[in-house]
Amino acid sequence: MDSEATALAARIAKAERLTILTGAGVSAASGVPTFRGPEGLWRQYRPEDLATPQAFARDPLLVWEWYAWRRERLAACRPNRAHDVIAAWSQRSGCRVITQNVDDLHLRAGTRSLIRIHGSIWELSCWQSCAAQGGTPWRDETIRFESLPPRCPSCGGMARPAVVWFGESLRGEDLRAALDATSCDLFLAVGTSAVVYPAAGLVHDARRRGAFTVEINLEATPSSGDVDLAVLGAAEDVLPRVASLMSAAE
Ligand code: OAD
Repeated sequence: MDSEATALAARIAKAERLTILTGAGVSAASGVPTFRGPEGLWRQYRPEDLATPQAFARDPLLVWEWYAWRRERLAACRPNRAHDVIAAWSQRSGCRVITQNVDDLHLRAGTRSLIRIHGSIWELSCWQSCAAQGGTPWRDETIRFESLPPRCPSCGGMARPAVVWFGESLRGEDLRAALDATSCDLFLAVGTSAVVYPAAGLVHDARRRGAFTVEINLEATPSSGDVDLAVLGAAEDVLPRVASLMSAAE
């Protein structure tokens, strides 16, 4: 890993516009299960069976039980060294961070210019998009709701997690910001299986637009063959190593 880390450190040091895309692998060392890893199932369900508007319409209680379980687990999780390094790099001008993670651990690590393309598990919105709330989410960090599903404070109807479900579009402003961020010198895709679009397409957009593209992952993904540099390793090891090589070279 060291020659790759050295090459990456040099690239990051000189990049004027750095964009980092993160996925569940970045939060793995914090104790957050990845979606497609060994702990990806909840009861007998796959995320794709629960994270859809159809699943919620059919059985809102079941979907909320899954989210309540995830919120409870997440409440005990802290940002790890990968989040910390990304937060430090985000302070540089020209750095943008796009995350698919809904856990808000990047925010808690102090990341700036963060684009949360799949929303936040700590925000809710009105299922009916009632006139008072519209589509505007509100923050709610309750761990144990008195009853499920929680309610919209305006209309009393059901609230839903303000996350993007399969079959739903990203919020327009997030998609625009993410596409804009593919215009960069260096694009790092960290800890994502690169199978869920449109996020998985961003690295290809960046490459088409002239960026040097890098993947950091424990294993090969469908993107590995297309990036300029694929680094096999854990985000919480590789990123601090790169950061320390950058400090040593200063
Ligand atoms: P996945 O669970 O699909 O993939 C996690 C990736 O992280 C895998 O490629 C692992 O090899 C890698 N990985 C695991 N631990 C790692 C570590 N310590 N360091 C580096 N890499 C590691 O998660 P995502 O790609 O984020 O969507 O999934 C994309 C989307 O699918 C999620 O945002 C979610 C899900 O369904 C929605 O909720 C809409």
